[in-house]
Amino acid sequence: MPEKTPPEKTPPGKTPPGKTPPEPLLRAEGLTAGYNGVPALRDLDLSVGAGEVVSILGPNGAGKTTALLSLVGLLPLMKGTVTALGKPVAPRRPHLLARRGVRLVPDDRGIYFGLTVAEHLRLARGSDPEHTAAVMDRFPALDGLRARKVGLLSGGEQQMLAIATALLSRPRVLMVDEMSLGLAPVIVQDMLPALRDLAERDGIGVLLVEQHVELALDVSDRAVVLNHGQVVLTGPARELLENRDRLEAAYFGSDESAGGSGGGSGGEAREAS
Ligand SMILES: Nc1ncnc2c1ncn2[C@@H]1O[C@H](COP(=O)(O)OP(=O)(O)OP(=O)(O)O)[C@@H](O)[C@H]1O
Ligand SMILES: [Mg+2]
Repeated sequence: MPEKTPPEKTPPGKTPPGKTPPEPLLRAEGLTAGYNGVPALRDLDLSVGAGEVVSILGPNGAGKTTALLSLVGLLPLMKGTVTALGKPVAPRRPHLLARRGVRLVPDDRGIYFGLTVAEHLRLARGSDPEHTAAVMDRFPALDGLRARKVGLLSGGEQQMLAIATALLSRPRVLMVDEMSLGLAPVIVQDMLPALRDLAERDGIGVLLVEQHVELALDVSDRAVVLNHGQVVLTGPARELLENRDRLEAAYFGSDESAGGSGGGSGGEAREAS
């Protein structure tokens, strides 16, 4: 009798071969936003699908946080559209969006120094003991620290708690602004793959803002490089990694970035005009 080959398993969030990919969980088109009527970010197109990790990269002041704040409606759009889970994102209603499953972990981590780890876990919306245990399994370092005040945790532990707390509400989209801020590279090296794992195992769409460019690209499917509020380079992460000169030129904003290294590798990483 011929042996039956078991049907190939499609990881959560990934599209089985031959099927049209579903609408992304998060999509921005022509997103323009800023402060006091002056754009700090112009014409950003971006999408994050289930099970995908997308990075927004760029130097200080490039517009990365502005992008995240506009994606969750904390900053009103000057132009363009943002849809999350199939619906337009309403201005200034990030709590409602969070309830629908779109969570932003801000760069200050959104945690309270005077509360303990256990208190954070209890306060997290929608948590149940079984799910809490499953989330804590992902961050074993936190387990022995339940009674400790958050202000006494290390930077890495605080960041783990911020992400664990966000995960307790079972997000479908998780955005993390500068997870690595103040963390030793060796800790970042552990935590970025943990986010990749969330996407692969749970089908969460992950949007990262990162300063550790290579580490971020290593765990990303796609990336967007911003500079001075403009998209200067975008494409599959692997192709960006393979075109280091072009990536550096875009990142550091040299005048040659708009065509300097000329690509030449046949990759599809696209320089934005
Ligand atoms: N509340 C604000 N009011 C006015 N201008 C602001 C405000 N927040 C940010 N900006 C300006 O908008 C631009 C983009 O800032 P943004 O915070 O998005 O940068 P970023 O890429 O996140 O930088 P960083 O890596 O330093 O966090 C900068 O020029 C910044 O000075
Ligand atoms: Mg920022």
